[in-house]
Amino acid sequence: TRTRPAPPNAALRDIARQLLDPNKGILAADESPGTFAKRLGKGVPNTLTVRRQWRRTLLSAPQLEEYISGVILHEETFIHGDSDVQSAIGRGIAVGIKLDEGTVPLQPKKSGERATKGLEGLEGRCTRFRNRGGAVFAKWRAVFRVGRHTPSRAAIRRNAGDLAAFAAAAQACGVVPILEPEVLAEGDHDMQRGGAAAARVLRGVFRALRRRADVDPGAMLLKVAFVTPGQRSTEQVEPHEVANATLRVLLRTVPRIVPGIVFLSGGQSEETATSNLLALSQLALERAQAGKPPLPWALSFSFGRALQSSALEAWQRGDVAEAQVLLTRRARANALAQQGRQGK
Ligand code: 13P
Repeated sequence: TRTRPAPPNAALRDIARQLLDPNKGILAADESPGTFAKRLGKGVPNTLTVRRQWRRTLLSAPQLEEYISGVILHEETFIHGDSDVQSAIGRGIAVGIKLDEGTVPLQPKKSGERATKGLEGLEGRCTRFRNRGGAVFAKWRAVFRVGRHTPSRAAIRRNAGDLAAFAAAAQACGVVPILEPEVLAEGDHDMQRGGAAAARVLRGVFRALRRRADVDPGAMLLKVAFVTPGQRSTEQVEPHEVANATLRVLLRTVPRIVPGIVFLSGGQSEETATSNLLALSQLALERAQAGKPPLPWALSFSFGRALQSSALEAWQRGDVAEAQVLLTRRARANALAQQGRQGK
């Protein structure tokens, strides 16, 4: 079924365009307290105060606004770090709210598949963070495991439907939705199977979106993983192969009306994530030079770990200034990579 999509939402399309500044990307700093615990080394307690100080370090990094158009934050940063959020906005960095509330197992449990929580009361929460916190965009993450029988049709249908419902609620409350159907890198699958899974997931997501008359697909961003072999696969791939596999999937599944696709780093090292982004941007440039039509959407980054890891290490050693330098340097390297340029 194809429902007529919502009319263009000019205000939201404008925000999406700003987030997709060709010289900048998006910083994901929206780890839940539980996830943040996994990022911290031993010796630093995972308290609200520690997380607040870390987010303040990120948000106040000098020159960050030259390379970062927006930052995704957890609700605790809006609630307990409002002055940091407002000063980021003051520097011209758009702020976004993670609106999903993590994942729960889907039946049968042994499949390892998961659904995302947080649809209940979503629009009210969205409106609060928009009106009181200044959020102009929001994120919803769903996860898909690649296995012998997964992602299953049921898991795709459920998560795609929820992503589409989130998109509608976010646009109704006046923020740009970032839909993040993440195909996880865990597993021993090869790149071909990873790509096939990603294509099935994305087809499901856009099928669900076509059924909703209340979503403007021109006023959302898609956030995905690079197509790679699983972390436990023995297959070795070069960035240009990742770029080729990723672009092939996206060209087959993502409608032209979507203004931008941003990448998560999914546990890749800082260098690997940047190399993959660079290879993809160079591939786009090569296509243009070969006279092929330009890509319909903008491509950018929205890394969490691949922007924060080195900085977080320095910070845990007590070196706040060094942490900020490392963050900005990473952001700059990715901003250049997305333009097909190599940093020094
Ligand atoms: P990573 O880049 O660390 O995968 O985080 C991005 C993100 O937003 C995950 O939801």
